[in-house]
Amino acid sequence: MGARMDVLLGAQWGDEGKGKVVDVVAPDYDVIARFQGGPNAGHTLLFEGRKHVLHTIPSGIFREDTVNLIGNGVVIDPVIFLKEVNALKAIGVDVRNSLLISRRAHLILPTHRALDAASEAEKGTSKIGSTLKGIGPTYMDKTGRNGLRVGDMELHDRSERYRALTKKHERLLLQYGRPAAPKEAEEEWLAAVDVLRSMRLVDSEHYLDQALRNGKRVLAEGAQGTLLDIDFGTYPFVTSSNTISAGACTGLGVAPNRIDKVVGIFKAYCTRVGSGPFPTELENATGEHIRNVGQEFGSTTGRARRCGWLDLPALHYAVMVNGITELAMMKSDVLSNMDELRICTGYKVDGKATDRMPYDITSRVEPILQQVDGWGDLSTDTPLPHGLERYIAMIEERVGVPVTLVSLGPDRAETVHRQAAAVH
Ligand code: GDP
Ligand code: IMO
Ligand code: MG
Repeated sequence: MGARMDVLLGAQWGDEGKGKVVDVVAPDYDVIARFQGGPNAGHTLLFEGRKHVLHTIPSGIFREDTVNLIGNGVVIDPVIFLKEVNALKAIGVDVRNSLLISRRAHLILPTHRALDAASEAEKGTSKIGSTLKGIGPTYMDKTGRNGLRVGDMELHDRSERYRALTKKHERLLLQYGRPAAPKEAEEEWLAAVDVLRSMRLVDSEHYLDQALRNGKRVLAEGAQGTLLDIDFGTYPFVTSSNTISAGACTGLGVAPNRIDKVVGIFKAYCTRVGSGPFPTELENATGEHIRNVGQEFGSTTGRARRCGWLDLPALHYAVMVNGITELAMMKSDVLSNMDELRICTGYKVDGKATDRMPYDITSRVEPILQQVDGWGDLSTDTPLPHGLERYIAMIEERVGVPVTLVSLGPDRAETVHRQAAAVH
């Protein structure tokens, strides 16, 4: 059967630092393949003093000799995609050489974005806090069997197909009392599609099958995080795709028995952007401190991220539904020099203690917090300060998976690969 594929994904509410880790480990792989989500994602990479934010393009794009593939599970906005391509070109990265796009990936239309905004406005105070990139409406058209796919753009009647779907959307927008997308948006979209269809379009399931048969090393890159998964996240405050490891199978066409490692990325604390339950949220000076030190502002929307203590029941849940085999802990530096550190080890639901994520994590869920030792700064003779090692050991013990990578800053170089102690 050849080689097997590794999966890297978010184990919390997104923005865990997936982009950084993919960039760090990319030299170990031949192919990096994004499997779901779209321009709602913002994956940040930092090296040689420069910061790069990727939305649709996989995070292996800066590594020479790495093929980057946008899988069928991804939704692509051609306009945002083109901006990304041009921004990369401006710094000398020509994606034409190294980027493949699945014909089965669905397209985000300007009217999808308008529908996203209309739906959120209609929800009022119970809005999801969507990134307004059109993600929900595009996946709705996919499952509703109305969508447009990248491969359709190779057909001579692509403009007619575009107009037919747009018309449908305009009728919906009318019901919401919203205007249709402006004419310029349509022209911009069709021009961007011309660039998109000139790229290397592939049947990614066949491409990856062949790559694995030839012994190539493939890494599947997730977007968002486990608690934003459409099935297992804090529904309805979630995104519209399967962000978990199973999503890598459906989003790339790779069978489950071809998955090897599943790497879960998590922050030493928790953040969430947008609405929805967040049991360990700190709406106080400590939360503010973490936000400022961690620069917790969205890479896609610039919104302030909500911050809170590390949530072990939630992380344990992520380990379970993804089959995580190893963890990478990010932003450890942000918790340095803090007088008081806490970790959530369970919840109280209606007065009863549990260490399981309940079905409905609303305000009835109260976190059980354990005080833990902190550490001073990161300057030490050992690779990691003892206090930080103890913090990691506690996580490993509770979730039963080793932490094999520890990130101590946003730069590629600020990364420690860790020989994990045996965990049960
Ligand atoms: P992603 O969506 O999972 O790729 O994560 P984002 O890029 O949206 O957010 C992670 C943010 O944290 C980015 O600004 C990174 O540059 C930054 N970052 C990643 N790892 C570390 C770290 O270990 N320490 C600090 N201070 N920042 C980090
Ligand atoms: P990366 O890949 C953090 C959140 C939004 C909102 C909800 C639904 O950078 O980790 P959507 O636009 O998908 O309809 O929004 O999901 N969200 C993210 N939060 N990181 C992301 O991606 C996210 N993508 C979507 O804030 O609450
Ligand atoms: Mg992000």
